[in-house]
Amino acid sequence: MTLRSVVLGCGSYLPRQILTNAELASRIDTSDEWIVQRTGIKQRHIAAEGEFTSHLAINAARAALEHAGVDAQSIDLIVLATSTPDNTFPATAVAVQNGLGIHHGAAFDLQAVCSGFVFALATADNFLRGGAYKRALVIGAETFSRILDWNDRGTCVLFGDGAGAVVLEAQQQGGAASDRGILTAHLRSDGQHKSKLYVDGGPSSSQTVGYLRMEGREVFKHAVGMITDVIVDALNATGLSVEDINWFIPHQANKRIIDASAHKLHIAPQKVVLTVDRHGNTSAASIPLALDVAVKDGRVKKGDLLLLEAMGGGFTWGSVLLRW
Ligand code: UT7
Repeated sequence: MTLRSVVLGCGSYLPRQILTNAELASRIDTSDEWIVQRTGIKQRHIAAEGEFTSHLAINAARAALEHAGVDAQSIDLIVLATSTPDNTFPATAVAVQNGLGIHHGAAFDLQAVCSGFVFALATADNFLRGGAYKRALVIGAETFSRILDWNDRGTCVLFGDGAGAVVLEAQQQGGAASDRGILTAHLRSDGQHKSKLYVDGGPSSSQTVGYLRMEGREVFKHAVGMITDVIVDALNATGLSVEDINWFIPHQANKRIIDASAHKLHIAPQKVVLTVDRHGNTSAASIPLALDVAVKDGRVKKGDLLLLEAMGGGFTWGSVLLRW
């Protein structure tokens, strides 16, 4: 017998306002054709004035609790992945905790940019398997629209706002790869690439929030290799093979990166969950948003093997294999 972090339910939230490529093309020197061809993105959601990351996260968390059929008071750990916190401190996770009426257990933020949800899942998994907590909310929530330079066409067309969440519970399982829950997680970072995707401000350096800056081509160049390496690590650690995977739910940065990664790993295109066309790149929120879509439309079924992966600023990258 072994303790595993089993997913009880998931939920997500998207701000109401949709920003289409056509609207962007009316403001800056870009086109729907360029954006779709280079990224697969057609539209993204933008948070309303006064709508913060914590608000998005609370809505996603409530949806996940409802889907799981559990009460907020049963949650004793909240790990919130975000690079766009409401404030420099306290952690946005405590605003979420308070918003849900929870006043026990622990809540903290985790910052690994686009890999944040994978890092947060792995972190919560370790706490649950170690026996420190029993039921966790793992959330990815972002308002990237607030850190975009809307005059930089190389970045502002790529990102959007949103949030997704899962409820995890520590459960005794048989200890085999056929178990439900998180089977393995593999996290990597390499700070030599930190200037290729960063925000040019912060409390300690500039005392400003700053704007997102990216050498897109450089990020692209490394993405597929890093993603596939860490997926191979996950498969090797479990003895599972690509054929065992039911659903590939990647970070939604760019359709070309997703297609190239799936192709390199011989993952069939019909097993790939794609939401980048509708959501854009929502950083730490993109995987739980895509997961929620595939669960709610009936694709993901109990017992299915899911492969999650992400790569982003830092660079950070990681993979999780979990059985639904
Ligand atoms: O989630 C975190 C990880 N981030 C990523 O995964 C992003 C990775 N990178 C990418 O997805 C791609 O590099 C981009 C989508 C950002 C860019 O695609 P690209 O094929 O690498 O284009 P590029 O940067 O090489 O630019 C090609 C051309 C340039 O013009 P010239 O120099 O060839 O005349 C750009 O100025 O496209 C131009 N360009 C645009 N044109 C129209 C750049 N942005 C735009 C735009 N509209 N929005």
